[in-house]
Amino acid sequence: MIRVGLAGTGSMGLTHAQAYATIPGVVVAAVLDIDRDRAVQLAATVGAHPYSDLDAMLEAEKLDVVDCCLPTAQHRITVERAAQYGCHVICEKPLTLTVADGQAMIAATRAAGTQLLVGQVVRFFPEFQRIASALREGRIGTPVSLTMLRQGSSPGGSRSWYLDETQSGGIFLDMMIHDFDWALHHLGPAERVYARLVQRFEPRAFTQGMATIRHTSGALSQITGTWGHPGPFTTMVELAGDGGLLQHNSSESTPIILYAETAPREPGDVPLPDLSVTNPYRVELAHFVDVLAGRAESLVRPEEALAALSLALSARASAATNQAQVVEVVAA
Ligand SMILES: NC(=O)c1ccc[n+]([C@@H]2O[C@H](COP(=O)([O-])OP(=O)(O)OC[C@H]3O[C@@H](n4cnc5c(N)ncnc54)[C@H](O)[C@@H]3O)[C@@H](O)[C@H]2O)c1
Repeated sequence: MIRVGLAGTGSMGLTHAQAYATIPGVVVAAVLDIDRDRAVQLAATVGAHPYSDLDAMLEAEKLDVVDCCLPTAQHRITVERAAQYGCHVICEKPLTLTVADGQAMIAATRAAGTQLLVGQVVRFFPEFQRIASALREGRIGTPVSLTMLRQGSSPGGSRSWYLDETQSGGIFLDMMIHDFDWALHHLGPAERVYARLVQRFEPRAFTQGMATIRHTSGALSQITGTWGHPGPFTTMVELAGDGGLLQHNSSESTPIILYAETAPREPGDVPLPDLSVTNPYRVELAHFVDVLAGRAESLVRPEEALAALSLALSARASAATNQAQVVEVVAA
């Protein structure tokens, strides 16, 4: 049985706890939160021991893995301490706030001989997996242009730390990293990025980042992220290849439509699993449990999470300077 120490009881901590309850071979043995009442409450729900201090948890429990669902500024210290105790780490995205911190985290887990599994969960969303399979199967030929949009409400209340760039990295690192990672994984390394940011707090909070990326393959990605969208959380993808076009719009009832040059033009050509029964966080964590049990290779390599972070930092720098940025090739 894999023993997890769950660090953080906020939106992601609760989501992960619910997922673990349905995955065989894994148990949440300890729950950590600086807010002791929250730790006690979730620990009681899942039958674990509560902690408000990381070292105390690592010292007292024989954990196999620490699952870091803490605010991003806490990721590096948590991963390094866990590695010192010989624990594997599941770490929520973004990996961390700087490339140097990310390199240190990868080095720490390598030195300890433990896994670092980063929660780039969009890889595990069924609609994104269907697009990836259609691409792999050659249904649209070689990809040349990708447009991705992700929009949701503005974080606030106990989550106002998201709007503090020193804590979350801002929208490029926190939200758009999902799409940066997906674009890099499927269209290959990025060469240059040009980005813009608009942010208003009155009369209501609204943040939007836009980034245009040139990949070394020559393909272009156009990625937009919004905090402050009044409607429901929405994602859209349009992936154009030299042999067809794939579209996904989460607000439509048929979220993926394939227009292949050679196929009959019928909507719904690519079937999609029912999202209501496929929780991507559960799929992701079940995969990570398989990795830890030696049954699978991780679909998300730490070097990829670092490359996505590097691209997000370059996009943020571009927005701040109004200058296109060369995307740094980072060694892990
Ligand atoms: N994969 C995704 O789709 C996704 C979605 C949301 C958030 N995230 C990421 O997950 C991480 C957590 O986000 P969240 O929304 O759960 O945050 P949150 O604010 O809801 O919860 C954070 C929890 O950590 C606790 N905490 C803060 N500092 C602590 C410390 N030093 N020691 C112990 N506990 C501490 C807080 O009391 C709180 O309960 C972030 O990195 C975020 O970017 C990922």
